[in-house]
Amino acid sequence: MVYLDHAATTPVLPAVVEAVAEAMAVGGNPSSVHSAGRAARSRIEEARELLAALLDAHPSEVLFTSGGTESDNLAVTGLFQARHRADPARREILLSGAEHHAVLDAADHLAATGAARIRRLPVDRNGRVTRDAFADAAAERPDRIALASVMWANNETGAVSDIAALSAIAGAAGFPLHTDAVQAVGTLDVDFARSSAAALSIAGHKLGGPGGTGLLLLRRDAALVPLQHGGGQERGLRSGTLNVAGAVGLAVAVEEAVTRRAVRAAEYARLGRRLIDGVRAIVPDAELTGSDPADQAQLPGVVHLRFPGCESETLLMLLDAAGVECSAGSACTAGVTRASHVLLAIGLDEPAARSSLRFSLGHTSSDADIDAVTAVIGEVVRRAKDANAKRTNARAQHVSPLLTGSPR
Ligand SMILES: Cc1ncc(COP(=O)(O)O)c(C=O)c1O
Repeated sequence: MVYLDHAATTPVLPAVVEAVAEAMAVGGNPSSVHSAGRAARSRIEEARELLAALLDAHPSEVLFTSGGTESDNLAVTGLFQARHRADPARREILLSGAEHHAVLDAADHLAATGAARIRRLPVDRNGRVTRDAFADAAAERPDRIALASVMWANNETGAVSDIAALSAIAGAAGFPLHTDAVQAVGTLDVDFARSSAAALSIAGHKLGGPGGTGLLLLRRDAALVPLQHGGGQERGLRSGTLNVAGAVGLAVAVEEAVTRRAVRAAEYARLGRRLIDGVRAIVPDAELTGSDPADQAQLPGVVHLRFPGCESETLLMLLDAAGVECSAGSACTAGVTRASHVLLAIGLDEPAARSSLRFSLGHTSSDADIDAVTAVIGEVVRRAKDANAKRTNARAQHVSPLLTGSPR
């Protein structure tokens, strides 16, 4: 199979498998005071220091979590509660409709309890929050804002926002900014100190690290109310016995991601360009969402294409049958396919949003993968268009009796 769904998850790196297996064989609870505990603690602290150095954070700013969803929930809920408790007039959460559900739903939950109010930030046609739009929002009653959350890079379109510029605006207006950098580390230069964000989320499995690992980088001066209560680990902000092997594996994955970043980004941009050109040479009406893969406001490894007259689910299944795994710009919930909230947020209509595919490149991607897609895409699109036309006809025949008042 050709795997072009690295933004969903990417294969674990061999060096990570080795490091995790070695750490698991040793054991020990890092909170214990005996030798085994101290040995586990020193592994955790080594991993923390390495991660801090790679991401330009202080070691005390590195909190280990179970992944992107937990980091996002902890940041949005914890920053909100700390700010709102300190000043009850601060109730607003600024975010765009293109955020990941881990951010959107955490904020929605706070709004449903009556504590928070959500203020939507507009996005451009690729899913970016622009500096001007953010500055306008921050200028409007900044004393009511508890926090903003803006993703560094969008997981569907690959659009990259200028987080350092947005953080500077948030800082000047007096509220913290959290950024979901789950898709950014690995191909973009993610420097926590330089970004000046108050908090930043990372997920291990997007980088070739172990599943169920992640980080929340939290600035030392950022107040945060914990979600989990218990043993007081991680400065009391994330209780729970630490996952030593996970932390060790995550550090190895981030080290490889950061040290190979520039080479990989250039390679993904080249492969991405080949993919776009190759597909459009065969399917001329295919439309690109986002910018050129070499554009600095675009993740080089994410190619999002729309195929007018096709349904993404059909394309996905036909490609899978032809040996290519990628992802649709839609989510299937309880058997009903719905257009992705991100694509609707950037202004696509339902049919356009439901005709898209996301190909995402990663450390195993090669020219052969691109050749495999271009070898089958013409036939796949032709069959998907046929299926869609038949479905539309069948629907028309089914509704016409109702429209004509037939008793059927
Ligand atoms: C941008 C973004 N944020 C958060 C998440 C959630 O991360 P995790 O799968 O580690 O919970 C994902 C994963 O799909 C993502 O792409």
